[in-house]
Amino acid sequence: MQKIVIEGGRPLKGTVDISGAKNSALPILFATILGDGPTMLRNVPDLQDIQTTLRILQFMGAKVANGYPKSLKVQPNGMKHCEAPYELVKTMRASVLAMGPLLGKYRQAKVSLPGGCAIGARPINLHLKAFEQMGASIELEGGYVIAKAPSKKGLHGAKIHFDAVTVTGTENVLMAAVYAKGQTVIENAAREPEILDLAQLLNKMGAKIYGAGTETIVIDGVETMKGTEHSIIADRIETGTFMIGAAMTGGSVKIRGADPETVEALTAKMNECGAKISIDKDTNEIHVEGPKTLKAVDITTAPYPGFATDFQAQYMAMMTVAQGTSVITETIFENRFMHALELIRMGADIKIEGNMAIVKGVKKLSGAPVMASDLRASAALLLAGLVADGITEVHRVYHIDRGYEDIEKKFRKLGARIKRAKVKF
Ligand code: EPZ
Repeated sequence: MQKIVIEGGRPLKGTVDISGAKNSALPILFATILGDGPTMLRNVPDLQDIQTTLRILQFMGAKVANGYPKSLKVQPNGMKHCEAPYELVKTMRASVLAMGPLLGKYRQAKVSLPGGCAIGARPINLHLKAFEQMGASIELEGGYVIAKAPSKKGLHGAKIHFDAVTVTGTENVLMAAVYAKGQTVIENAAREPEILDLAQLLNKMGAKIYGAGTETIVIDGVETMKGTEHSIIADRIETGTFMIGAAMTGGSVKIRGADPETVEALTAKMNECGAKISIDKDTNEIHVEGPKTLKAVDITTAPYPGFATDFQAQYMAMMTVAQGTSVITETIFENRFMHALELIRMGADIKIEGNMAIVKGVKKLSGAPVMASDLRASAALLLAGLVADGITEVHRVYHIDRGYEDIEKKFRKLGARIKRAKVKF
C-alpha cells in the first residue's frame, strides 16, 4: 500500500500540462469494439482505470497495442467473450459501458453488476430500462446482468426518456443504438463534453448521431462501422483540480492543453471567490492567480453545464480556508461528503446537514494522516495538504491513481513538497 506525503505552505507556481480525459477515454475504448477494423486513439491518459478497461477488452478477445506516447490501437476483430467479469468490474464500475456496444454489435452482454461505491448506490436501472425499450431481454443472475437482443434482428430504435440525467446511461444507449434498426431518440440526455467526444468518435466510425451535447440526441441505425483515428479531449476535472490548487495556495499557475469552455461554471465561481482567472485567446491556456484571501461562495452541483459534482470535494477543500461561511449542496450523489470527515480531522469547520455542507473558513488547516475514500475526495485531501501547516499523509492512494496521471510529479513541478511513500504496516 502507498501513501502520498505532502508538506504544506508553498504556493503553486509554474505551468502544468493537462492529460486526456478519463471519462471520455473509458466509453471511447469500449466503443472501439463496434468497428469492423482497428481504431487508433491518441492522448489516452495513463491511469489505472484505463489499464482495467484494456484488460476487459483483451478478456473479450480484442487485441490492444500500447503505442507511445499515450496512444493505443484496439483491434476488435476476434471477439470471443461478450462478458465483463466480476474480478475486473469490481475495481471499476464504468465497466458497465461494455453493455451498450456488446448488445449493439454482438446482441448479447454478460456484465457483472457494479456494486455501489463510496459516493452512493449508483444503480444502473435507467441503462437497463432503456435497453429493454430497444428490445433487449435483461436477466440478473449470480450478480451478473445478462442482456440479450433478438438474435435475428438485433435491437430496434426507441424513444428513450431518462428520468434522471445519467452520463454513462446516455453513453450506453448511444453505443447500443448505432446498429439498431430504425431511429433512437434520447430525451433528457446528459450534455457533458465526454458525450460529445464519444459521439464524434462514433460518427467518424460511420454512425449517424445528431444533437450530442444537447438534451435530445437522435441516432439513425447503420449497417456497418469501421475503425478510425481519434484524439481524446482534455480532462476538465483534472483542469479544475489544478485551478483550485493554484487559487487556494495563493499561487500563479498556467494550465496548458485544457479546454476553458468545459470549466466555465467553476471559473465563474472561482472569480466570485476572488481568484484571478484569464484565458489566452490564441493558446487557450488558463492562467490562475490566487488572491491573498479567498471569499466564501456557495455552490450547488448540477449536470453539465452546471457546477460538476466531480469538483465538489476539491471546492470544499478550498472553502475550508476561505473567509466566511459557504454552503455546498450536492444534488447528484447521496453520499459524496466523505472527504468532509477527513478535512475536519485537519481542523476544518464543516457541518453536514442532509445534502448540504456548511463550511466555515478557518485561518489554517493542520497536517494529519487522512484516508481517501474515492477519486475526487483524494484530490481534495491532497489540495488541503498543500495549504495545511506541517505534514499530511493521504492513505489509500489507489483511489487517486484511478483518475489522475502522475499527480505528484505534476504538483512537484509546480513547487509542492510532495512524494509517494510506502505505508509501513
Ligand atoms: C459519471 O458517472 C462519471 N463517471 C462520474 O465521475 C460523475 O461523477 C458522474 O457521471 C456525474 O457527472 C464516468 O463518466 C465514468 P450518472 P455515472 O449515471 O454515469 C443516478 C469520477 O470521479 N442514476 O450520471 O455513473 C445515480 O445514482 C466519476 O470520475 C440512477 O439512479 O453517473 C446518480 O445519483 C465519479 N440510475 C445520478 O443518477 C441509473 O441507471 C447521476 O449518475 C443511472 C444513474
